[in-house]
Order: sequence, then C-alpha cells, then structure tokens
Amino acid sequence: MKIILVAGARPNFMKIAPLMAEFRKHPELECRLVHTGQHYDESMSQIFFDELNIAPPDVNLEVGSGSHARQTAEIMTRFEPVLERERPDAVLVVGDVNSTIACGLVAVKMGVRLIHVEAGLRSFDRRMPEEINRVLTDAISDLLFCSEQSGVDNLRREGIAAEKIFLVGNVMIDTLLAHRRRAEASGILDRLKLSAREYAVLTLHRPSNVDSAVSLAGIVEALDAIQKDLPVIFPAHPRAWKGIEAAGFSERLNEMPRLRAMAPLGYLDFMKLMSSARLVLTDSGGIQEETTILGVPCLTLRANTERPVTVEMGTNRLVGSSREGILEGYRGITARSREGAVMPPLWDGRAAERIARIVPEALRV
Ligand code: UD1
Repeated sequence: MKIILVAGARPNFMKIAPLMAEFRKHPELECRLVHTGQHYDESMSQIFFDELNIAPPDVNLEVGSGSHARQTAEIMTRFEPVLERERPDAVLVVGDVNSTIACGLVAVKMGVRLIHVEAGLRSFDRRMPEEINRVLTDAISDLLFCSEQSGVDNLRREGIAAEKIFLVGNVMIDTLLAHRRRAEASGILDRLKLSAREYAVLTLHRPSNVDSAVSLAGIVEALDAIQKDLPVIFPAHPRAWKGIEAAGFSERLNEMPRLRAMAPLGYLDFMKLMSSARLVLTDSGGIQEETTILGVPCLTLRANTERPVTVEMGTNRLVGSSREGILEGYRGITARSREGAVMPPLWDGRAAERIARIVPEALRV
C-alpha cells in the first residue's frame, strides 16, 4: 500500500514527523514524502527536517512564494506528474495551508483516496485563507482525523459520514512530547541572556494582522506598553517583517528598547523559549495548542480560534488585536499565578500511532 505524505509549510513539518516515523513501523505501508517547497528558507524548512529527524523528501516541488492562485496552481501542476508516476493508494495531507488543498484536489481528481490529518477545525471566518482550505479539503477527503471533539462535531454538522471521521488526538503534540527533553537542553536562554519567566514571546504572521495597518497599529501600541514591563522576544516570520515595513512600523519597533526582534528560530530553541516564558502572544494556530500542553499563558491576537479546546481547557485567551484588548489580557495574566498544564483528550503523544493503525485497515475496504 503506497501512501504519499505531503508537507509544504513550517507548521506541516512537526505534524509529518511523527506520521512518517509511525508509518515506517507498518511493513505493509510504503511511504513517500513530497515537499511542495511552499516554505523554503533554511529557518522555515530545513532546520525542522534536521532537528526532528525527518528523512529528506523524496520529491521537492520547489514552488516557492506567490499569490494564492499562483501558488496553489503551481503546486497542483507540479504534483500531478508525481501522482501519475507513483500511482499511490492514498495521499495524506495535514493542516490548512495552500499545499494541503492543492495536493488534495489533485489526488481526488485522479481517483486517489485522500486522508486529512487535523480535519474539522473551523474558525467560522471565511476571510481566513486557511478556513477556505480547511472546508474544501474536508469536503473531498475519504478519511478525516480530528485532533479535538469540535472537529468531529463540525464535520458531522457539514454532513460528513461518521465512518470517515476519527478522533485521534494531536500529531503536533506528539512531536512536542517526543522532543521535550531535547528542547529543555537548548541553550537559547543563555544565548539571549534571559531568565525563566522574565520575558514574553511574540509571534505574528496572520494576514489579518500583519497585512492590516489598523491591526498592526493596535499591536504595536500594546507591545510598547508591555515591553516597558517585560522584555518581549519576537522571532519574526518573513511575512511579518514585510507587513511591518510596508505599514511603516519598523522604526517604531526598533526604538522599543526591550522588544527584541530576530530571525525565526528552530524547533528546539523555540520550544525552550516558549516553555520558559511568562506568557506568549501569538496569532498562530499551533502555538495555542503547544502553550496549552506547556502550561504557559497564551494571548491569541485574533477574534476567533479554530481550536476552541485551547480556550475551554487550556491556557489560551482570545484578545483580538486592539491595544486595549491585548493589554487587558496581559494584566489578567500578570495578576494571576501561572496556570497548570492540561491535556485535552488524546493529546498524549500517540495520535500518529493511532492514525497509522487505522489507515491500512480503512484503505483495505
Ligand atoms: C502559511 C500558511 C499559514 C501558516 C503559515 C505558517 C497558507 C495560506 N498559509 O502562511 O496557514 O500558518 O504558513 O508559517 O498556506 N516567505 C519567505 N520564506 C519562506 C516562506 C515564505 O520569505 O520560506 C515569505 C514570502 O515573502 C511569502 C510570504 O512569506 O510571500 C508568505 O508565505 P506563504 O507561504 O504564502 O504564506 P505564510 O504567510 O507563510
């Protein structure tokens, strides 16, 4: 049984790593890894393959950046001949990036069964490109693996047959738990001369934040106030820099003495930086999940989340991107003692193991 696994952008790599490792334990499964090349910088791609021991991709489509239409179309055009050549029994895609929907569409149109890992998540905000990718990928998938109960409920509401849906837990958390000890050994705190719990971590990359001067203005004002109280470490996604420069905020940020912007970090350094932080400010999806397991307070600079379990059970709070919203969330955290880590159901490090057990059986029918 041949399966092609697809990874394209940074948050895909930590999801693919445990799947590749578990699939390899099943001799009846023959796996190929296709990297679409959506992310290509060393710090956005290769470092994750090195640190998470992911075998080099069998194929790299090297699509690079572009508008949504161009990038998606380019991935499709380059993925089709790979499927023609390999003739797999199934294609497995993860997450909600353009590579996910692009490769999913190619697969189903060639009659190849599609497996979606991290299915069913919904922000109910169709202005998010990821929401479109999620809804469409789920609609055409044959097997849908969910990380939390809300995913199952959303899929059932959308009319997806119950026998296609499996609640298996969170593969991103598999990776976090598997590498936690190695991450603890990272020397990032010494390198940045930081003490545990005496700094905040910031990440930003959502178009609704970094491509909007209004949202950026609110975030910048809030950061100015926060950094007077607590150093803020900002490993910046390339897209964030572009937005900040385009909106004319780079000088303002450079003038904040305790805001430290830097290039994106590797997985182990970033996990260590997060796990020792007083709090994390982010608009990422995966970081809402990781901080839940690490027990680190997370302020999500968005109005909604497709990962409600992190708010219901975890350490996550939605604060939007206005100055007042962020600062209110910030004050709430500093006034409270540190919250304990919680484990949403099945976030136990064994999600990929469950998926690898279900896939060969499900494909046989
Ligand atoms: C993509 C995903 C998003 C995910 C994010 C994680 C989509 C629609 N979005 O957003 O869901 O949360 O990845 O990072 O698929 N760039 C580089 N080097 C790179 C990659 C990108 O400089 O290696 C720059 C380019 O200027 C590019 C921009 O970042 O135009 C955006 O990259 P793109 O892949 O289009 O989307 P992301 O914002 O990274």
